[in-house]
Amino acid sequence: MKRHTCFAVVVLLLLSTVTSQSQGPASVEQRVNALLARMTLAEKLGQLQQLDGEGNGNFRPEHLELIRKGMLGSTLNVRGAANTNQMQRVAMNESRLKIPVLFGFDVIHGYRTIFPIPLAEAGSFDPALAERSAAVAAQEANNVGLRWTFAPMVDIARDPRWGRITEGAGEDPFLGAAFASARVRGFQGSDYGAPDKVLACAKHWVAYGAAEGGRDYNTTDLSENTLREIYFPPFKAAVDAGVGTFMSSFNAINGVPASANTFTLTKVLRDEWKFDGFVVSDYTSVKELINHGVAGDEQEAAAAALNAGVDMEMVSRSYNTYGAQLLNQKKLSPATIDEAVRRILRIKFRLGLFDRPYTDEAAETNALLKPDSIRLAREIAGRSMVLLKNDRDILPLNKNAGSIAVIGPLADDRRAPLGWWAGDGKEENTVTPLAGIKAMVSPQTRVTYAKGCEVKDDSTAGFQEAVNLAEQSEVAIVFVGETHDIVGEAASRSSLDLPGKQLALVQAIHATGKPTIVVLINGRPLSIGWIVNNVPAILESWMGGSQSGNAIADILFGDVNPSAKLPVTFPRAVGQVPVYYNYMHTGRPPEAENRYTSKYLDLPWTPLFPFGYGLSYTKFKISNLQLSAPRIPANGKLTVSTEVENTGQRAGDEVVQLYIRDTVASMTRPVKELKGFQRVTLKPGEKRRVEFTLTSQHLGFWNRRMRYVVEPGEFKVMVGSSSADVIEAKFEVAN
Ligand code: NOJ
Repeated sequence: MKRHTCFAVVVLLLLSTVTSQSQGPASVEQRVNALLARMTLAEKLGQLQQLDGEGNGNFRPEHLELIRKGMLGSTLNVRGAANTNQMQRVAMNESRLKIPVLFGFDVIHGYRTIFPIPLAEAGSFDPALAERSAAVAAQEANNVGLRWTFAPMVDIARDPRWGRITEGAGEDPFLGAAFASARVRGFQGSDYGAPDKVLACAKHWVAYGAAEGGRDYNTTDLSENTLREIYFPPFKAAVDAGVGTFMSSFNAINGVPASANTFTLTKVLRDEWKFDGFVVSDYTSVKELINHGVAGDEQEAAAAALNAGVDMEMVSRSYNTYGAQLLNQKKLSPATIDEAVRRILRIKFRLGLFDRPYTDEAAETNALLKPDSIRLAREIAGRSMVLLKNDRDILPLNKNAGSIAVIGPLADDRRAPLGWWAGDGKEENTVTPLAGIKAMVSPQTRVTYAKGCEVKDDSTAGFQEAVNLAEQSEVAIVFVGETHDIVGEAASRSSLDLPGKQLALVQAIHATGKPTIVVLINGRPLSIGWIVNNVPAILESWMGGSQSGNAIADILFGDVNPSAKLPVTFPRAVGQVPVYYNYMHTGRPPEAENRYTSKYLDLPWTPLFPFGYGLSYTKFKISNLQLSAPRIPANGKLTVSTEVENTGQRAGDEVVQLYIRDTVASMTRPVKELKGFQRVTLKPGEKRRVEFTLTSQHLGFWNRRMRYVVEPGEFKVMVGSSSADVIEAKFEVAN
């Protein structure tokens, strides 16, 4: 007995002298277990609890007492080094076990330096850019005391009515996976305990983006194939990139809420993917199991969520209130609680929180809005904006244009470009399009501005002033779209039209006969058919972040050649939704002359703009597609290469996209699936061959027995500049 006690003390002493950063995984596990062995039930349940701050960055004073008692493991929204340090001092000096608090916040596309919305960034088809923006966000966030971001949001979204489409990488699982892993790398680096990194959180697990009717929080009903092939891949990519946490979503999946779903939380995430971080619920989603109708009361809700694999409860307090009772009633096992605590402590150790719990308050201000960060925000915004139309090469404009009328409710709006999840971005740091244009043009060029109307109301009182300005100018640029509060969470729309009188404003300006350019500032695809049919030039600028006005000016005046592509399909009308490029063939594919085929009577079945579409100020030709072999074995490799040539007058980037189709399979396969993309920079006249590799990873699918298989037979391979503009070849997978 005596010898054992002595031994334990020595081990504990030894363990506490080494820092977490210098340790391998085994010693983290030892520290976790040593700590766990000393914890009371109340302290264990405390680690499973996350509570919200006051909303302005401050903590709630009553939470200090909880920390003192070891009954609060994490907060959200508390930020600012002084705030987090004050809370942390209580944990480190006044609580029995000195377990540090983990401070989380929604740093989605920037903390103070705000980058384009993630949907826009995905349109760059350049994951390295997202890695860089996430790295800046991590550095800023860490400096204000945060150690954990609730990002990346990696939900696939095929329904633009859903406001949160703004927050992810769009409709495609392959593109989504590439961006998920880039963002995880950007936030976490190779060590999320580093002083300029934060822990990332892949959310919302899972199928949150499939909300029926596009109505936020709504239920979903999806086959396991669709889950595995469309909704899971970005999450799997996040796990492979080392993401430390997951967030369980609000929705139900096939009748089982995601926050009580053993299949997704345990079978897939833990057993198949071997994820060893922790899962936090979404905001009160544990308690909401009662509303879902799968728990009769909070006690049942707690048991359902914890037993299914939700380790930390955000905001509701069911675990803490009922944990002891549930244990007594044997509805929860001690091992289940211990495992949840172990997962959380493991991450806290890996974060180095025990060794470096505090943040340097003096360094905080200098860390924000660094000149390099601002430059990067401008660069990324410019690379995320999509040129949708440019008839007669009306763009780029001349900086000596003489006179330019800048019109529209979003032309001088500082809030909209920051998007819904604006972190701690400040309006005073936003460059509006009006400011960007004024800074860009020559001193001789007269820039005038009229708002014309609001985004959302029905007044046309400002039209006349705007029309007068357009008439007195050589060119009119109209900025229309969405305000920040009609995208994002709880911001589903049943219409995809421009809200309010904005279309009428565009029509009034267009009617002056002056060359008119429309710049869209919005967080989701919009049905802009009239504008596409009538206005010669359209730039989709999305919500471009703090530097969006400068980036828009860079493109409008040709300093930057637009190069982004749409990461999501634009419907002609909301009635086409869901409309996405990787749809399944039907037995009756649309044919104009045959009524009894899959289409609409009152609208073409094709979208307004396809996935992957986007123009440049130069022209590219993609040709000479070559395959390394006509036939490969199922576990073989195929090299696909194609030439891309800049046939225009300016240097520019083309995003070469590779799609495949399994022509005949044991299950219906999508008409096209993105399996590769490369952004290529070419001078005028320059030609380059780009190469892609296809392997079983790209060619297989989940069959009827839920096995991932590559089936023999013919495959089509397509390369091109969008999902609707491709050249193709065929190959075979041999038996
Ligand atoms: C609810 C949102 O769904 C989630 O994305 C976010 O991280 C939490 N609130 C915390 O703000």
